[in-house]
Amino acid sequence: MLQLLIGPHVAGAISCLAQLGISDLIDTVPKSADELASQIGANPQALYRLMRATASVGVLSEGPDGKFSQTPMSAVLRSNATPSLRSFAIMGGREWHGRGWSHLEYCVRTGKQALDQIYGADVFEFLKQHPEEGQIFHNAMTDLSMIDGPAVADAYNFAGIRSIVDIAGGHGLLLATILQRNPHLRGTLYEMPHVIEGTKNGPLKPHMERCSFASGDMFSSVPSGADAYIMKHIIHDWPDEPCIKLLKACRNGVNSGGKLLVVDAVIQPGNDFSPGKFLDLQMLIFPSGCERTEKQFRALFAAAGWQLTRIIPTAAADSIVEAVPA
Ligand SMILES: C[S@@+](CC[C@H](N)C(=O)[O-])C[C@H]1O[C@@H](n2cnc3c(N)ncnc32)[C@H](O)[C@@H]1O
Repeated sequence: MLQLLIGPHVAGAISCLAQLGISDLIDTVPKSADELASQIGANPQALYRLMRATASVGVLSEGPDGKFSQTPMSAVLRSNATPSLRSFAIMGGREWHGRGWSHLEYCVRTGKQALDQIYGADVFEFLKQHPEEGQIFHNAMTDLSMIDGPAVADAYNFAGIRSIVDIAGGHGLLLATILQRNPHLRGTLYEMPHVIEGTKNGPLKPHMERCSFASGDMFSSVPSGADAYIMKHIIHDWPDEPCIKLLKACRNGVNSGGKLLVVDAVIQPGNDFSPGKFLDLQMLIFPSGCERTEKQFRALFAAAGWQLTRIIPTAAADSIVEAVPA
């Protein structure tokens, strides 16, 4: 139980290591805390204690000479690693994130999201009002897409699809990965206007001739006339009512014979450990959504005019929940 209870300390230490950029600095040569401290402007003893702690969970390794070297776990905290989890780690240490988690009891008692209570704005409005946090958030989402983008592109056969819209596709890495592996496909990235601004020099840049950008509020309208709508980590952000609205808009916009591809964790009933059960709590705290079971996806889709056809597992934690017009 004590090990579980210090989980937040472990995550906090890793987040701090990422924030300080230590994995970038020791990539080729092991370094002591003293050397690193003068490089980054830190207290040498405090930095040593930080690295000793993370090395105890395999994130860095301390040698007999007191120098720290890279491990496979610390290597994914490099800025240019593929995949990199540096931004995702940094996001976990931001004040808004910590304050959100500190309000879990409030969320459980009320069923309401935390950021409205703390900052008077929901998470996406908060990120819009705080562009530095927004940038970290979108970089963190891109980190995750380095893992689940290739997993989705490998698991699904896009051969029968000619045009695809990525709804709320962030900075576009999932769509870029799909376009790169499917030269016959044209794609549209749909996002909120201030997010689209940040995407044009992003992952889609090499695919500009097969890609367009559209901006708006997905609960008001979505681009119409596509063979498929894909949305990763979107349905889990929201309660049923707005999801049904969004899925109905996709149902109205989809070409005849088209598909809906929802990429999210699918929760298995029972006591088995799954990271999705904890991400589900994150969905309770921040955007007031939830991770869903197959049964819940089936009912949600039916309410919006879609019929669930298949759940396709991927090499990552997410599955592709496929549907066709009912
Ligand atoms: C959890 S992120 C997922 C991003 C991306 N699909 C991915 O997997 O990396 C949720 C995304 O929804 C977008 N979003 C939130 N509300 C929206 C709205 N009303 N209309 C369009 N996009 C929205 C946010 O800007 C954010 O990029």
